[in-house]
Amino acid sequence: MAISVPSGTTIDEAFRRKFARSAALYERARASIAGGITHDSRNFAPFPVYVERAQGSRKWDADGNELVDHWMGHGALILGHGHPAIQAALSEQVTLGTHYGASHEVEVSWAEEICRLVPSAEWVRFTMSGTESTMLAIRDARAFTGREKVIRFAGHFHGWHDYAMAGYQPPFDTPTSIGVPSDVAASMLIAYPNRIESVRALMDQCPDQVAAVILEPGGGSNGIIPTDIQFLRDLRDLTRERGVVLIFDEVITGFRYAPGGAQERYEVTPDITTLAKIVAGGLPGGAVAGRKDILDVQTFKGDLQKDRFARVLQQGTFNANPLSAVAGLTCLRIIAEGWPTEQAERSCEQLRHSLREVLQRRNVQGTVVGEASVFQILLGDELDEALAESDANRLMAGRGAVNTLRKAMLVNGVDLMRSGGFTSIAHGDQEIEHTINAFEASLEMLQREGLA
Ligand SMILES: Cc1ncc(COP(=O)(O)O)c(C=O)c1O
Repeated sequence: MAISVPSGTTIDEAFRRKFARSAALYERARASIAGGITHDSRNFAPFPVYVERAQGSRKWDADGNELVDHWMGHGALILGHGHPAIQAALSEQVTLGTHYGASHEVEVSWAEEICRLVPSAEWVRFTMSGTESTMLAIRDARAFTGREKVIRFAGHFHGWHDYAMAGYQPPFDTPTSIGVPSDVAASMLIAYPNRIESVRALMDQCPDQVAAVILEPGGGSNGIIPTDIQFLRDLRDLTRERGVVLIFDEVITGFRYAPGGAQERYEVTPDITTLAKIVAGGLPGGAVAGRKDILDVQTFKGDLQKDRFARVLQQGTFNANPLSAVAGLTCLRIIAEGWPTEQAERSCEQLRHSLREVLQRRNVQGTVVGEASVFQILLGDELDEALAESDANRLMAGRGAVNTLRKAMLVNGVDLMRSGGFTSIAHGDQEIEHTINAFEASLEMLQREGLA
């Protein structure tokens, strides 16, 4: 995949020319899909790119363009697109049935594999997404403690249900979505990342009312605000001391930061872990894993009174459906070999390092952050100022040029997830080199337009 920077055209013109069929599909989509897109993160001006197929680290769009992929199924595909073992397991399962409306052995093996890998997992309950996992974990914690408040961190992402909307984007005291009842938002207390005193102050303000603390252990919004490990240890001590359930949202970090997730990498064990993405091997799925005494709030006791009045209800038509279960089980068995997380991390480390070199070489202000197989490019002058003010503001720093950078990267054959993304085991030297060259070419285009 050679890169040639189109001269004499703007980034926008080059984008429109290269992705003409996507423009037409977007026009068509707007007639039948609200706003034309099915996930807010696909909101992209002037139009999103429509993909037709994917394999390994690559995907091909509706115009036949080949792209090195760093979205990787929003982080679900650490083994790359179309891993042969997962494809074979899925093909076989399709012939055996896709929904039994019944328990089945594969879900048991899948849960056993999660318990083997994830340090905090004594028991597991399956869901269909990360959003459902955090929603259920919060309900479990509230039921277990008999308390209602939940502490979360500014800038951390936990899906899109009502409770997750408070404190996600600045200004943190206003829910990120309209339509969230004020009582719901008020039950969520917002602390500041890496500041244990802000957590303690909230607990002191609401004595014996805090059910849980939930956070992304690898850092807010996929590592843009990196985690301080000592903070995680202090948080573990504080929550234990106050009888508060500690929830690690490992929807991204699970099976990526290490086979046992961020909790294995940092050696801090939460009470409950929420999982999705990699756990289901690239198919829809999620899980809540954790202490048996806490997850016991979900079990039937065979007592009508208790089962009706003292139990957490959880349903979900597609929970642990055979296809997601078999893909998840196959994926986790490969993850358990240890090398996939290490290999994806090595590629990402090389990528982060080289991207920083490109920024320096081109004299562009910005930085590249990230851990394990996650990277985030932050561009812009505001960065240092914002960092000095508050770590949470980092989310907003360097965001100005993100859309244009992503557009330029697409023109140069790379699909970034916003301003960064993931590496997988399918990202070898060739793909890393291509992304670095595309970054250099894209910065040149941005500089030409006075945007970097
Ligand atoms: C940390 C975290 N929690 C929860 C979610 C929500 O997961 P889902 O998109 O499967 O609902 C995400 C999604 O990106 C996430 O990154």
